[in-house]
Amino acid sequence: MTTQPKIPLILDGDPGHDDAIAWTLAHASGRFDIRAVTTCAGNQTIEKTTYNALRVCALIGLNVPVARGCPRPLLTAPMNAPSVHGESGLDGPALPEPAFEIQPFGAVELMARVLRESSEPVTLVSTGPMTNTAALLLAHPELKPKIARISLMGGGLLHGNWTPAAEFNILVDPEAAKIVFESGLPILMAGLDVTEKALILPEDFARIREQGSAVSDVVWQWLEFFYKFHRNLGYAGAPMHDPCAVMALLYPELFTMKDCYVQIETLGDYCKGATVPDWHGAAGHAPNATCLMDVDRDAFADRLVQLIARYKEVRP
Ligand code: RIB
Ligand code: CA
Repeated sequence: MTTQPKIPLILDGDPGHDDAIAWTLAHASGRFDIRAVTTCAGNQTIEKTTYNALRVCALIGLNVPVARGCPRPLLTAPMNAPSVHGESGLDGPALPEPAFEIQPFGAVELMARVLRESSEPVTLVSTGPMTNTAALLLAHPELKPKIARISLMGGGLLHGNWTPAAEFNILVDPEAAKIVFESGLPILMAGLDVTEKALILPEDFARIREQGSAVSDVVWQWLEFFYKFHRNLGYAGAPMHDPCAVMALLYPELFTMKDCYVQIETLGDYCKGATVPDWHGAAGHAPNATCLMDVDRDAFADRLVQLIARYKEVRP
C-alpha cells in the first residue's frame, strides 16, 4: 500500500470545542506532519485558549511546539464567545493538565521559524480569527512562498452567525481576514455555507461514546456541550465548523467546492465582517478562494467517527 507523504501543517485556533475536535481529527489521521500549534484570541481570551490548547495536546498526545498568539485583533476591539464555549472556552469534560510549557516566544515567531526551517511549503489550518496569520504575512512577506495553502474556517457567503452578515472568526478580526484573503495565497474556505451542513447528530455522539477510549470519552462530551447551544437555535446536531477545515484536506471528495473572489467588509454598521462573494467577476478579480458549499453529511460523520476510533488508549 503506497503511503502518501505527510503534509506539513501548522494548527492555529482558539479552542473552543470545534477547534479541539479539528485538532483531534488532524492528529488521528496520520496524514499530517504537525509542526506547531498556535493560539489566537476569539472564543475566549488568549490566556484561556492557550491553556486549552495545551490541555488538548496533552489529551491527544500531540507533542509539538505551542506558542501563544496575538492577545487581541489587529484593530477592532476584542470579542469572546462564552455563550457558546463557556467561561473556560472549553467547558464540559475534565481535561488533563498541560504536559509541557508553551514556547518562550509568540505565535508569529513560531510560525516564521517553522516556515523558515521547512524544506517544503507548509499548510496552515486556521480555525479562529486570523490575527496571527495576518501578522505573520505583515512581518514576514519573504516567507509567503513557504505557505502551501491556508485551509480556514471562516465566513459565510449567504449569511453570518454572530451578526446577520458576519461569521464570528471574520467579525472578530476583519482586517486580518482582509489581509489573508488579499494575500494571493491559495485559500480553502470552510464557511457557514458548508459547516452548518456538516452536522454530527446525537446518534453519532453515541457511536463515539461506545468507543470507550480516554479521547472518545471527551469528544462525545464536547459534542454534547456544543450541541446544547445549537439545539436552541434549531440545529439537528452539532455543526462541525472547524473540523471542516481539516476534513476538506483529508477527504476533499466529500465536499462540493466552488472558486470565487471573496471580499471582506471591514466597515459598516450592519455588514462589518461579511465575506462578500463575487460569483460573476463584477469586481474584475480572479477567484481568491475555493469555497466549500456542500458536504456528504453521512460520509463526513462516518469518517469523523472512524478517526476518533483510532485513539485506543482506554481510560484507566
Ligand atoms: O463561527 C464558528 C467559528 O467561531 C468556529 O471557529 C468556532 O470555534 C468559533 O471560533
Ligand atoms: Ca474556532
